[in-house]
Amino acid sequence: SPPTLTDRFNRSIDYLRVSVTDRCDLRCSYCIPKGFRGFEVPEHWLSFAEITRVVGAFARLGTRRFRLTGGEPLLRKGLVDLVGQLNGIDGVDDLSLSTNGTLLATQAYDLRRAGVKRLNISLDSLRGECVQHITGSNSLEKVLHGLRMAKGAGFERIKINMVLMQDVNESDVSDMVAFCMQHGFILRLIEMMPMGATGQSMGFVDAQPILARLKNQFDLHAVHDDGLGGGPARYWRSADGAFTMGVITPMSQHFCETCNRVRLSVDGTLYMCLGQDERFELRPMLRAGCSDAELEAAIRTAIELKPEKHDFHEQPEKIIRFMSMTGG
Ligand code: GTP
Ligand code: 5AD
Ligand code: SF4
Repeated sequence: SPPTLTDRFNRSIDYLRVSVTDRCDLRCSYCIPKGFRGFEVPEHWLSFAEITRVVGAFARLGTRRFRLTGGEPLLRKGLVDLVGQLNGIDGVDDLSLSTNGTLLATQAYDLRRAGVKRLNISLDSLRGECVQHITGSNSLEKVLHGLRMAKGAGFERIKINMVLMQDVNESDVSDMVAFCMQHGFILRLIEMMPMGATGQSMGFVDAQPILARLKNQFDLHAVHDDGLGGGPARYWRSADGAFTMGVITPMSQHFCETCNRVRLSVDGTLYMCLGQDERFELRPMLRAGCSDAELEAAIRTAIELKPEKHDFHEQPEKIIRFMSMTGG
């Protein structure tokens, strides 16, 4: 069997999230702070060759799951080419993408053909004015069109990410369930994580009571299926098998004991945890012409830094970095 990366807490690290840009065409209030200007300068962005090198090193170290994120990844020029390059790497078994969907209509088929297996799409409401309120943009119709095209493109799985916000989209859950049932999408209810004021600009909603209500209503039972994803979601399915949904509960029931991932930002920094500061900068060594062995050793060193868990509860005001930097 291939080697695997293991951290100090005996967690196997087999999932890399790769951010290909920190820019976004939306301004979701839980993700990017108002008026934010601190984007990376393009000279700091890893090139496709550099990203491919890092992914290759992780693959040799036993990582099998890779997810492209942003900011909004579809804004990165030539993304389909990068997907093709990554998909050609030995050991890249599960290549997936998280997107806000606004640019999906024109790219869905090409992304699928180039090797994206699974797609996660952010959509917090089916009401135009609500989406406008959350994202700062009149984007609903574009996203719905993107979803239609994605559905036709034959992805193995399409998930809808819905971040729950008090008095904003709490009441939209039933409509989202019906929509996902109708289209065969997997709905995921996500608890908002605080990132200083950004993740708290709208009220927090505990996903547990909502899950309890839906379990009752649709006779849902727990499913444990690796094929659903390699992430922190817990999944539930209706008795007739027609509807699957997941909950991601970083706040009410965190999943740090089983965390399996690290993140590569667009400037080539490996971030060890969403809610902590531990990191390792790969860009300087990449640009100094390091060897593959040196790169692999650096990744092992970085993994040693991975902390045990986030402390969002203890320090909700602490801003480590905005979600837009690593795409969640
Ligand atoms: P798959 O399981 O592979 O489908 O992906 P995923 O659910 O891990 O990825 P996605 O980009 O769709 O993220 C969904 C939500 O989970 C986002 O709100 C992320 O911020 C959150 N999330 C993903 N990984 C972690 C993690 O390690 N820790 C915490 N606290 N949240 C995470
Ligand atoms: N808390 C929880 N989820 C978040 N996302 C962005 N910001 C936050 C936050 N503060 C989600 C987006 C997207 C996913 C990649 O991360 O909704 O679907
Ligand atoms: Fe952009 Fe996604 Fe963040 Fe919204 S959640 S601002 S769509 S990166």
